[in-house]
Amino acid sequence: MNEYDTLHELANAAKRINATSIKELFVTNSERLQEFTVSLRGMHVDFSRQKLDSETLGLLLNYAEQRKVAKFLAQMAEGEVVNISENLPAGHIKTRQQNNKSAEPIRQFVENLHKGIITGSDGRRISHIVHIGIGGSELGPRLVYDALKRSRGSAIKVRFVANVDAACINDALSGLDPASTLVFVVSKSFSTAETISNAKIARDWLNQHLGDNASSKQMYAITANAEKAGDFGIKAKNIFAFENHIGGRFSLWSSVGLSLAASLGNDNWQQLLAGARAMDQHLLQTPISRNLPILSALISFWNLNFLKTPARAIVPYAQRLSLLPLWLQQLIMESNGKSVTSTGKPADLLAAPVVFGDAGTNAQHAFFQALHQAPNPVPVDFIGVIKDAENHPGQSKALLANLLAQSIALMCGKNDQQNPQTNFSGDRPSTTILLDELTPFNLGGLLAFYEHETVVLAHLCRINPFDQWGVELGKELAVQMQNRLDGAVTPKYDLATEAMLKYINKRHDQ
Ligand code: F6P
Repeated sequence: MNEYDTLHELANAAKRINATSIKELFVTNSERLQEFTVSLRGMHVDFSRQKLDSETLGLLLNYAEQRKVAKFLAQMAEGEVVNISENLPAGHIKTRQQNNKSAEPIRQFVENLHKGIITGSDGRRISHIVHIGIGGSELGPRLVYDALKRSRGSAIKVRFVANVDAACINDALSGLDPASTLVFVVSKSFSTAETISNAKIARDWLNQHLGDNASSKQMYAITANAEKAGDFGIKAKNIFAFENHIGGRFSLWSSVGLSLAASLGNDNWQQLLAGARAMDQHLLQTPISRNLPILSALISFWNLNFLKTPARAIVPYAQRLSLLPLWLQQLIMESNGKSVTSTGKPADLLAAPVVFGDAGTNAQHAFFQALHQAPNPVPVDFIGVIKDAENHPGQSKALLANLLAQSIALMCGKNDQQNPQTNFSGDRPSTTILLDELTPFNLGGLLAFYEHETVVLAHLCRINPFDQWGVELGKELAVQMQNRLDGAVTPKYDLATEAMLKYINKRHDQ
């Protein structure tokens, strides 16, 4: 049997599975729980409420073998070229290895900052970092900063600025003492328009308050383009490099996480990396039938292409993980939202669900109505934390109770033939991930799990997850459009755009 035969078999399996229910799958297989759950240090994952049986899983595992997933992952970890369209390796696993060469400058910087050796231009101690970056240069650090509030080992606070909307930079700088603030410009390319625009405002702010040389002392660049950072006026000794082959959305573990390391402290930062490393080892050393990221990718592959559920909801029952859906949106949709294979042929398999989500229980009062009763089932990832670090155990139990209640309601539904309004069809798939605690180690593992799942899913669909050509066209057009808003009369666009420009200019001038 080859890959195509297996895909055909999977399509047949979908017909069989569609005729049964998730509840029924528990009845016909007494081993289901053991087969579909995996526990690692600090993390337990239950796929048993997904809508597939052992036979389907067997076919999916065959497909993974045929696609040589394990070999591909080993090649990626070894630094071989896996990002074909850009002729680059994918270096994120190496960034969290203990002997990685970017680790020492980060450790040294954090130590010097905490000892007060690094200060503001007049010798004042640093209390704040303004982290300017967007997409992969901001989402990961902001998520972890929020998530690990209880583990932050230093008094240093970070404010994040991503959007080009002046409201963001204004809010971030508001109330700060410039003499106690460092500004980090985090941009792999050092040419992202939003980031450079915000960085200029921050540079002026430092210089206006502290004198013309302040920005050269208090601004840092985290970038793969040291030349451009130098042109911007950032001193070579304030530039933290990271390599071009580390994708933005996989870059949290590199010096992109510098502001995080500063606020968490070196030990917690190391624990975050250690958790991710443990997940890397699990990925590379565990047989595929017990391999968490591979299983999760196979299930997502199944849901997208055979059960035809094109969306996925991410619902962490932990307020501190409320940015996880945003981070995953970029990770999954920017990596896998593509219509051509790695070699540029039309892709016939879907690799990117529409990802959305919010923290539970808030999400229950927003989009869960549709999850329970809309005609199109949406697979859900529930993420729970068993022991939280807050001081109200009742609240923690309420969160877990809600998580469990929702996953039952989705799977079992409620039969009410008398009243269709209160009938719940059930049979809606979900995965539950339980973390023992929200520690740096467990969070590192969770994020690495999703990174690997995304890459494996792309490989199953023959897609290159490491490029993002789809973001370029809009960037080019925005530059031209800014000229039009500034008064240029060309280039001309379609009728709708021209009418809109006219309307904006008229309103603006009134
Ligand atoms: O959105 C496109 C993108 O290139 C992302 O891939 C990246 O994370 C983000 O912009 C920021 O890019 P940079 O780090 O080069 O500023």
